[in-house]
Amino acid sequence: MGLSEKTKAWLKDNCRVSLRGKTALITGADSGVGFQTAEILLQLDACVVLVCRNMEKAASAQKKLQRDHPGASVSVMKLDLADFRSVEAFSDELRAKGTDVDILVNNAGVFHQPGRKTADGFELVMGTNYIGTFYLTERILPYLQCLPHEVVVINTVSIVCRIAGIPDFRKFYDGGDLAVYARSKLCLAIYTRELARRTRKTRLRILMSHPGITMTPLGMNAYGKTVSRLAGRFRGVFNSPEKSALSAAYILSHEVPPGALVGPDRFFGGWGFPRENKIPRRADRNAEELIRFTEKEIARAGGKIP
Ligand SMILES: NC(=O)c1ccc[n+]([C@@H]2O[C@H](COP(=O)([O-])OP(=O)(O)OC[C@H]3O[C@@H](n4cnc5c(N)ncnc54)[C@H](OP(=O)(O)O)[C@@H]3O)[C@@H](O)[C@H]2O)c1
Repeated sequence: MGLSEKTKAWLKDNCRVSLRGKTALITGADSGVGFQTAEILLQLDACVVLVCRNMEKAASAQKKLQRDHPGASVSVMKLDLADFRSVEAFSDELRAKGTDVDILVNNAGVFHQPGRKTADGFELVMGTNYIGTFYLTERILPYLQCLPHEVVVINTVSIVCRIAGIPDFRKFYDGGDLAVYARSKLCLAIYTRELARRTRKTRLRILMSHPGITMTPLGMNAYGKTVSRLAGRFRGVFNSPEKSALSAAYILSHEVPPGALVGPDRFFGGWGFPRENKIPRRADRNAEELIRFTEKEIARAGGKIP
């Protein structure tokens, strides 16, 4: 199907940048916002790597993108953020193959996974959205820092991280669906802000985006028919995945500083076209304690941060 004419026109007017010769890795690129991000970066002429846990879904996404962008470079790599061994295999493969990386969009995430755990025993939402992304980033950071050009890393957070409580390490994995999800995204925001500070003088540019409220399998799977019915009825209230995915293009074509947050511009960031958003105050608190705690949790589960 490809991108809508409206999106193409927005890109033409707002993103005067060519990504020709640049390689963009996107996690969770077989679905929702990740798939549309791949589509948009292809439109800007990037070479795209779909980094997915399910190789069948990845191959089907690759086929669709190649059909809509004939001649474009679209490849796939395997990564399951909910399994440390998979994260280690992925980072080793990147290094062994000398894969070029100009852009990394850490988009993969989950919501509402009651009672489920990662392969290493963490609650699945925290384990995927925060701990898995943290582990991946720490494993590949030394490699990215050795590349002879700028590397932009975009971590996907959420507007709900504004309502999350400061992480209480005694109850780190506890709470209802929304509380755990919001905490996982707040932790990712805190980590991103701290990493942006630590890498300020390097060629890494680390930022955040959020997709507002977007109709994708993420929420649909959680609330099934009720959400699908509501979403169908109030379609205009939600951002389309295509519109939400424009944040990456905005970041890559504007002078957005490290640590910034980009997302939809209307209704408290719920929907609209991308622009720089206000940073949640809590994203600048407790970074050192959080990182120390996370490193200990990863070591306790057998992970190795270089
Ligand atoms: N939709 C919203 O309103 C909204 C709001 C705020 C933030 N977000 C964030 O936006 C990002 C994209 O979500 P979406 O709405 O586009 O949902 P989605 O369509 O469900 O996409 C999520 C992607 O993440 C992948 N994924 C899940 N667990 C993974 C793992 N362990 N390892 C590797 N990949 C994994 C999924 O793979 P499979 O296809 O194999 O499941 C899928 O490709 C997420 O980080 C989400 O938290 C979404």
